[in-house]
Amino acid sequence: MSVKIAVLGYGVVGSGVVELFYKNKASIEKRAGKEMDIKHILDLRDFPDSPYKDKLTKDFSDIINDDEVTSVAECMGGVEPAFTFVKACLEKGKSVSTSNKELVAEKGDILLQTAKDHGCNFFFEASVGGAIPIIRPLHRCLAANDINKVAGILNGTTNFILTKMYNDNMQFDDALRLAQELGYAEKDPTADVEGHDACRKICIIASLVFGKHVYPKSVYTKGISQVDLADVAAADVLGSSVKLIACVERLENGRILPTVMPMLVPHDDIMSGVNDVFNAVLVYGDGIDQAMFYGRGAGKLPTASAVLGDVIETAKQEGTVLSQTWESSGDDSFIADIESFSARWYFRIPEANKPSGVEESFCEDGFAHFITSDKLTFAKAKEMAAQLNAAAYIPVLE
Ligand code: HSE
Repeated sequence: MSVKIAVLGYGVVGSGVVELFYKNKASIEKRAGKEMDIKHILDLRDFPDSPYKDKLTKDFSDIINDDEVTSVAECMGGVEPAFTFVKACLEKGKSVSTSNKELVAEKGDILLQTAKDHGCNFFFEASVGGAIPIIRPLHRCLAANDINKVAGILNGTTNFILTKMYNDNMQFDDALRLAQELGYAEKDPTADVEGHDACRKICIIASLVFGKHVYPKSVYTKGISQVDLADVAAADVLGSSVKLIACVERLENGRILPTVMPMLVPHDDIMSGVNDVFNAVLVYGDGIDQAMFYGRGAGKLPTASAVLGDVIETAKQEGTVLSQTWESSGDDSFIADIESFSARWYFRIPEANKPSGVEESFCEDGFAHFITSDKLTFAKAKEMAAQLNAAAYIPVLE
């Protein structure tokens, strides 16, 4: 019997899902071992010239009440109405594959449990890292490991902007506009620039790896809006690139520390060469040591590829619950305070305030730029920045 699919949302990702599905329909069906077709596409807008206008509907009840539809691709974004629609689909036993990181980061525990209770799957490979397979590897291929840390570049837009600033001396606003034109940025690009999108993605990874829901509000998050071109250039002189790094690590006290912040990444670190819209995720486990996952982190077809990979899995695995659940968390006492964070730090301070004995340093345009030789806690770095009247201070990735 043919598997009937519904696509919720016909924006950048949803239209990519439809395009890639029909482009590769024959090989997709061969891999699924079943005939498949898209029966409905939900969107409130009109698309009079679309070749798929017969499938377009504005009414969710066309989908929820259609018992033929067993697999739903949710590409709407945002928590509502996506949460209501996805939960309703799962309660009817329709598996859902989503690219919506906000939905998974805020409601993943509930939706995974709903799927389990109703014998279907809630998949979200496309919610982290765009095209990169990372969710399924973390809970299946690497399931034998004790994973104690995951770090990565998880936002394509900010990586694209930082690369353009560094390589082409492009102004921040011009680079952001280009990222929007290329379909990388969120509807409200503040979510990219201020680190909220990377935060949602590290929440999903942390919940999956450590088994308890990590909410965005519990994560120390700093974006790139305050990263100055002067710091990008100075970092280069000091042998590093500036990257927005999302990380979660289990500390010795058993708590986990999730963070999102700009960091100096030394040029000899593998993450330093991850440029443009590309993302990279580095997983540290006791069996594997390190494994790195790399690919396009945003964009229409790369994200559609991940959504469709999940849709194919739902078709192959009808009736088998494969999605991993994690516990809901009543409080965030298992999350360490940012004050536990410790690193070497880059400082940009007025030249007159330069402390003696700093090795990795240089002066330019009245400012001293240097990297501390010792590690400092977050609180100590903040105190030193105030004392030295720092224009910028950024931790260095280890
Ligand atoms: N705005 C996101 C990014 C899209 O730039 O990474 C992919 O999640």
